Amino acid sequence: MNDRFLRACRREPVDRTPLWIMRQAGRYLPEYRELRAKADFLTVCRTPELAAEVTLQPLRRFQLDASIMFADIMTPLDAFDIAMTFNPGPKVAQPIRTRADVDRLHAKPAEEAVPYVAETLRILRRELDGRTPLIGFCGAPFTIAAYLVQGEGKEGFNALKKMMFEAPSTLEALLEKLTLAMADYVRLQAKAGAQAIQIFDSWVGVVSPEDWDRYVLEPTKALVTAVRASGVPVIYFANGATTILDRVAAVGADVYGIDWRIPLDEARARLGGAPAVQGNLDPAVLLGPVAEIERRAADVVRRGGGKGHIFNLGHGIFPETPIESVEALVRTVRGA
Ligand code: CP3
Repeated sequence: MNDRFLRACRREPVDRTPLWIMRQAGRYLPEYRELRAKADFLTVCRTPELAAEVTLQPLRRFQLDASIMFADIMTPLDAFDIAMTFNPGPKVAQPIRTRADVDRLHAKPAEEAVPYVAETLRILRRELDGRTPLIGFCGAPFTIAAYLVQGEGKEGFNALKKMMFEAPSTLEALLEKLTLAMADYVRLQAKAGAQAIQIFDSWVGVVSPEDWDRYVLEPTKALVTAVRASGVPVIYFANGATTILDRVAAVGADVYGIDWRIPLDEARARLGGAPAVQGNLDPAVLLGPVAEIERRAADVVRRGGGKGHIFNLGHGIFPETPIESVEALVRTVRGA
């Protein structure tokens, strides 16, 4: 059984730095594009056999130390019956803008709303058979709220910011509902076989420190607590939050995902030294020559310091990444 990744989450000694890649299943793989030519994105997410197949695709090519179930951060919103499309990012049919919009949201239990996610995880545990641990995930309440209020991914998320300043209690009410729904969703995942949970806070970099304290800390901490109560380690990835890492450390995660905007050793020091870290090679390095990939990846391994470090990119892999770049990366991290 390969348990390097789980050992690193717990800061136990490992024989070498474990490695996985954010968005490791996806459009940079020709076999993913082939499958997607036959089934749209939501169909893949909602069909356990297809979601499991796509999850396993990168494992067949690369010697990675963890698998991450295929779904989207917007998947659990099926519990609220929120209509959306993907092109390629999520677009919410009717953005949440008013108190009445928030009050209308009633979550079904995750077990009823997204049974296909539990089934995907069960298939994967069986198929993986200990080859790698299986990671489940969800979006952080703030990042999910950002999509729901804005309606789509948009620089600055001004509609969300407007709600923040104009109607703070409306945003707080929305965050509270999302926190409960995500907690229910991660419990379902842990029960179905997820061995760790990553919380993606992809857009939290848009907040000021004052707004982090008011809108992000408590909901995130509550979600982290819920994951840990279900018995699995939790990775919190706060993208773009390197300037407030001291605040980030207060959510109480086992592992902190670090983006590429800070040297990893510095990030660890700013987090207070104790927790494990995951990261943080700039995903754009994989668009460059092999020699540069090798040099940069080795530097991340060195700064990670071995114990309590999980190698990853500082954000998701780009669709235009050459396969040979990923091969060079995996070779370097395994051999470094
Ligand atoms: O391999 C994996 O990491 C598992 C799959 C996964 C997807 N989305 C599949 C996907 C994961 C973990 C996510 C999380 C996700 N979704 C995040 C957090 C991670 C991050 O990058 O910050 C976010 C912000 C989303 C929202 C989202 N979904 C965006 C912005 C997009 C568009 C383009 C993109 O790939 O970045 C999606 C669609 C999506 N989710 C695709 C995939 C493979 C592409 C859809 C397609 O096949 O056309």
